[in-house]
Amino acid sequence: MAQDLLNALRHVLPSDAVFTDEEHREAYGHDETEDLKHPPDVVVRPRTTEEVAAVLRICHALDVPVTPIGGRTGLSGGALCVQGGVGLALDRMDRIVTIDEGNLQVVVEPGVITQVLQEAVAAKGLYYPPDPSSRGSCTIGGNLAENAGGPRALKYGVTRDFVLNLEVVLADGTVMWTGANTLKNATGYDLTRLIVGSEGTLAVITKAVLKLVPMPRETRLMLVPFNNAEDACTAVSATFRAGVTPSAMEFIERDAIVWTMRHTDGLPAQLSTTPGAYLLIEVDGDHGEALMRDCETILGVMEAHGCGEVLFAESPSEKAALWHMRRSVPVSVKAHSVYKEEDTVVPRFALPRLLAGVKAIGARHGFSSVCYGHAGDGNLHVNIIKGDLSDDFWEHELPGAIREIFELTVSLGGTLSGEHGIGLVQRPYMDIAFNTAQLELMRGLKRLFDPKGILNPGKVLP
Ligand code: LAC
Ligand code: ZN
Repeated sequence: MAQDLLNALRHVLPSDAVFTDEEHREAYGHDETEDLKHPPDVVVRPRTTEEVAAVLRICHALDVPVTPIGGRTGLSGGALCVQGGVGLALDRMDRIVTIDEGNLQVVVEPGVITQVLQEAVAAKGLYYPPDPSSRGSCTIGGNLAENAGGPRALKYGVTRDFVLNLEVVLADGTVMWTGANTLKNATGYDLTRLIVGSEGTLAVITKAVLKLVPMPRETRLMLVPFNNAEDACTAVSATFRAGVTPSAMEFIERDAIVWTMRHTDGLPAQLSTTPGAYLLIEVDGDHGEALMRDCETILGVMEAHGCGEVLFAESPSEKAALWHMRRSVPVSVKAHSVYKEEDTVVPRFALPRLLAGVKAIGARHGFSSVCYGHAGDGNLHVNIIKGDLSDDFWEHELPGAIREIFELTVSLGGTLSGEHGIGLVQRPYMDIAFNTAQLELMRGLKRLFDPKGILNPGKVLP
């Protein structure tokens, strides 16, 4: 790596913030996407916005790629340093700056672990609902970059819906805020919403002002088995039409449950693994009787769609065990086999057609998939299992099959990713969701923000 880059970085950063050793390059050279490894040439771990700005000024002057790195739990390869260069790790910028109880807002740095934020605001009776399965190690910066969602989005919204204002560093090192700390804002273009979900390709986020809501006092949680997975998916949109908005409505196919149970203690004893699929349904609110009425309505809908015996979590520990099981699905799938995960999303009424179509494509090409996800959002994580499939199939035939899955998704009114982002691995499929005019407009935005193309190169845009 160029000595002038290293010298310049060492000049503006403390000596313990610049790393070129193998261990750091390897540790910051992967996320959770498949088994991909793309280490940076140098890892920097700044502590302040000023240090981030100084790094970007140098990279801009020397034409060096810069890839922002959060908790490295991403599933589309957004944090991989595909062109080497500088890995800009934001994990040391992990302060919760202020919790403003008067306005129900919090100011955070990007390296704050999502669960740490959730617990800090919960201690004040407040709730930050975006809740990725990786909440124990993912960071707010990564959640912002990928517009993460999780199980509570169907009622509360995704990460983007909780962002009021961002401090960002532009490609040339300029520091600015994108908006205002207000709930309403009709002032100019909405740069805040543009930056969220832009996967570190337009600017580096160094602070975020996020919205909070009061913590709901009570929850009810039920696990609903179905022999037929499509019936489970059909029951989802029917629930909303019956007038109930659950706080979570997760779909899980049997294999995902079976693989996950091995890693989960304290599950209700009656949990059976004969059904084909499950819905994990939560309602939340402040009034127990109202929640019981919601549960009765949901039960009626589930029974009308042929569910088996519904299991209610009786105690906080049973609730925790069921959520632990749900959160463990991604790691359990990963432990089972090499796999590829497609983050398909459709309008929720189309979910049964998406699931049936995915299975038909799998049958035609000879692969099996394990599906789970946020059914209330029409967001289905399709996990294609490598198992005994040949490397030749995996590398040469599978991309065509994935293309068919995305074509189906788009034909149903959906799109390529609900919450994992495009990053590196879904980039070849962007033409399915966007035409030339749309892609050119996006490329124009990219050039405007990053004329030298140094920010997270090789991501999002084909
Ligand atoms: C989940 C992650 C993989 O839903 O999005 O568990
Ligand atoms: Zn998910």
